[in-house]
Amino acid sequence: METDDRTVRLTIVGFGHVGGGVAEVVMRKHHAIKERYGLDLRIVGIADIKGVVTNERGLSESEITKFRLGDESVMAEGISTRDMIKELDHELMVEATPTNVIDGEPGLTHIITALESDRHVVTSNKGPLALQYRRLMELAGRRGKMLRFEATVGGAMPLISLIRNNLAGNGIISIKGILNGTCNYILTRMAEENLPYEHVLREAQEIGIAESDPTKDVEGIDTAVKLVILANTVFDMDATYRDVKVRGITDITPDALKLAHDAGYTIKLIGEVDTTGRLEVAPRLVPIRDPLDVSGTLNVATIKTDLAGDITVIGKGAGPIEAASAILSDIIGIYDTGQSQTKHLQ
Ligand SMILES: NC(=O)c1ccc[n+]([C@@H]2O[C@H](COP(=O)([O-])OP(=O)(O)OC[C@H]3O[C@@H](n4cnc5c(N)ncnc54)[C@H](OP(=O)(O)O)[C@@H]3O)[C@@H](O)[C@H]2O)c1
Repeated sequence: METDDRTVRLTIVGFGHVGGGVAEVVMRKHHAIKERYGLDLRIVGIADIKGVVTNERGLSESEITKFRLGDESVMAEGISTRDMIKELDHELMVEATPTNVIDGEPGLTHIITALESDRHVVTSNKGPLALQYRRLMELAGRRGKMLRFEATVGGAMPLISLIRNNLAGNGIISIKGILNGTCNYILTRMAEENLPYEHVLREAQEIGIAESDPTKDVEGIDTAVKLVILANTVFDMDATYRDVKVRGITDITPDALKLAHDAGYTIKLIGEVDTTGRLEVAPRLVPIRDPLDVSGTLNVATIKTDLAGDITVIGKGAGPIEAASAILSDIIGIYDTGQSQTKHLQ
């Protein structure tokens, strides 16, 4: 099918919370993005475990809803996810399958297939980047394609693009912060209510803030993975999450939080990376009212720079629309040459 230069045909691989959020914001913002950036974003294919749906002119809202509901009438017959990535004409793949830090799959294969098929890739999937960052960036470079991943660290919080764009020219000395909302929620509630860890964890699971298996969050693995992505992107390391010294929050007691409070501190799970190659996740004392003292599920990061001093960013680290915000910004960033007017999107 013929498209004009500014039509960007997207596929979404992995259609859960984040993939669904991307479809929602791309449709909701379609006109505003066209008007402001001249980009006509069309979702031409979606794949997940249920199957594949495609429409080379752009999927309608009704096709997407039917796919979400598992309606067989819209499923493409005999086409695998891999076939869709390789053979369906499109410019950019959004990868949003579950994070796997053992071997990076299935996301790793999806990303490699897309880059080898000359698609740009935007992903929220931390596994492939935490395990094979350099290989993927080299592949993207060889194919002249972009691989962007703002949503992998801090959800909606603009951290990677802030450093890349707005802090260009600065030397980055260190980044430290709270990169896991579940741990921050648990520590905040324990401190506020003087409640034990197990009680608050159960409460967090009941309201959907913690997963039924919370190991990755509470043992600091999720924070470590995000730290590795920052280390590789910002400090040009070639680290994997196995290089991070990690301690989680499972042994923090209400007494420890009370002692800290009496001395003017609180305890937060802090991830830290710096120019010396230090990669560490551990519970740390943070002065009350310090910029890193944010509560609930919020994420925060302080970037120490040589020219701009300390810059602190606070934001929502998770949520489908929040992650979709970062993905949309990466998509637009790939195509926008910076000449669009400074109008706000509605
Ligand atoms: N949720 C957030 O707030 C957030 C924020 C930032 C980053 N992330 C990252 O974004 C990714 C997606 O998160 P999510 O919350 O959207 O997860 P999710 O709701 O579990 O969605 C994952 C989707 O991927 C599908 N999938 C699994 N294996 C697949 C395969 N082999 N081929 C195609 N599709 C496959 C799943 O299908 P089934 O449902 O049928 O298994 C599901 O639709 C994860 O890597 C996560 O770490 C999430």
